[in-house]
Amino acid sequence: MSKATALAHPNIALVKYWGKRDVALNLPAAPSLSLTLAGMETRTTVEFDASFDSDHAQINGAVLRGPKLARLSDFLERVRQMSGEDRFARIVSENTFPTAAGLASSASGFAALATAATQAAGLELGSEELSVLARLGSGSAARSILGGFVEMRAGERVDGQDSFAVQVADANHWDLRCIVAITAEGEKSVGSTDGMMDTMLTSTFYDAWIAGVYDDMPVARQAILERDFMALATVAERSCLRMHASAIAADPGILYWNPTTVRLIHRIRRARKDGLPVFFTIDAGPHVKVFCEASDRSAVEAILKSTEGVLGTLSTRPGAGVSIG
Ligand code: DP6
Repeated sequence: MSKATALAHPNIALVKYWGKRDVALNLPAAPSLSLTLAGMETRTTVEFDASFDSDHAQINGAVLRGPKLARLSDFLERVRQMSGEDRFARIVSENTFPTAAGLASSASGFAALATAATQAAGLELGSEELSVLARLGSGSAARSILGGFVEMRAGERVDGQDSFAVQVADANHWDLRCIVAITAEGEKSVGSTDGMMDTMLTSTFYDAWIAGVYDDMPVARQAILERDFMALATVAERSCLRMHASAIAADPGILYWNPTTVRLIHRIRRARKDGLPVFFTIDAGPHVKVFCEASDRSAVEAILKSTEGVLGTLSTRPGAGVSIG
């Protein structure tokens, strides 16, 4: 088969990935832990064809050129080297969620691309090998290979073959909701790759941030396995705020938040103090991702929608890993 389609979902990190131990191989400096989300997906088709004289790529109907195309073409080159496939390919990818929502389109994008491209090139990879490959496209993509609660291993090997994601618990383990509060329109100001590079090179808090991740991982894993919402709330907010603190301490400092982001942080903490089990996390952008149990979804949505500056909400739930289809 020289053509294949794959489906992947984005994921949201509860213990954040923010730093690399090897930039060329895109190896994370520390482990991370995430939830793969249903309700949004990337569907990608890859076709190798002898009539193509270069790689082509199209995302949501827009043809890619320049560095964006080069990033995907470099990725296809790895698949060609692994498989012996020597033809160029066409990539056609659609996201069913607004890229402006900052919902890690690179995570679902490279997870779907790794799966579709290897399948189209005739390779049968297991989830660990797929995760290693997806990681080379984007670190967070390694986690979207698997469904539910997922742990990314930093690994120790210089070749990165032990740096892949494994499942902690499947999507049915815990019926959480993650509601995204959209607080701005348009693309984020500093992309995650650039933001984490600046943090690594210039932040006086970077080493302390990385050291703390190793303490957070077992706490988050146990909270998930025991479905202990308050324990997960504590560790996830701590990880998010420490990641942002490390970015704020870069030179010049990187601040992803807008006034609505900060307003939401206070609203959510107040709601929790008033007895509603809820917590927030924020990635490399101004949107706030709010976690709660399924039964509290409407109450949480009402709080987010009534907060000044919130442009809209998107409700998601635990989802599956990549599939062919
Ligand atoms: C803040 O996976 O986008 O979302 O490996 O350079 O492509 P690259 O970075 P990327 O970084 C994600 C950063 C984050 C936190 C997380 O998802 O863990």
